[in-house]
Amino acid sequence: SGVAILAIDGPSASGKGSVAQRVAEVLGFAYLDSGALYRLTALAAQQAGVDWCNEPAVARIAQSLDVCFDNGRILLAGQDVSALIRSESIGAGASQVAAFSAVRRALLARQRAFSLGPGLVADGRDMGSVVFPQAQLKIFLTATAEVRAKRRYQQLIDRGELADLLAIMRDLQSRDERDAARAEAPLRQWHDALLLDTSELSLDQVVECVLSWWKTRT
Ligand code: C5P
Repeated sequence: SGVAILAIDGPSASGKGSVAQRVAEVLGFAYLDSGALYRLTALAAQQAGVDWCNEPAVARIAQSLDVCFDNGRILLAGQDVSALIRSESIGAGASQVAAFSAVRRALLARQRAFSLGPGLVADGRDMGSVVFPQAQLKIFLTATAEVRAKRRYQQLIDRGELADLLAIMRDLQSRDERDAARAEAPLRQWHDALLLDTSELSLDQVVECVLSWWKTRT
């Protein structure tokens, strides 16, 4: 198809979301937050009383997800769950249900439906490897575990929530390990993805870098 696609993959709290959103804005492209779909699946399962270990039942929930992305707000069955899906416990649930191939399959078409003209910036773990292998540019965005934990800690503090830096670091690491160790679409830098380590860069610098790489590809 003629749709331009920029795929950004990487571990949790690497800043993918903020970078992808800003780049999409500058380019006038649509934005896909694929992690939100796994988070919504975990939340919808929880609300339906379905155990996160129950692959077929969770896959049915993923298949029939009633979700609406509306200007940065995320609605599940008409209810605004934008804040709810960002909790650490839903993040852990998302990582658990994301390991199931039936769940990943159920969300595939929904993700591909975002690739409507003129272009799309998609962020996740398998955007460049599985969902959009035809992407013009694939980036593996990362930062050291310390930097990512500090960024997540600061986000929670800014939101007025309680936060424990060491616990966050432990949670990030166990989530990354699970995401990297799974058989289906594991988290890793693929051979055709460019590595961007953001540990010592500001958000503006990262956005600049991504935009300059994009210019060379189009
Ligand atoms: O990116 P985010 O932290 O919102 O993703 C939540 C979880 O969803 C990740 O830990 C990962 O297990 C899963 N995920 C995935 N594939 C994607 C996006 C997210 O497996 N493309």
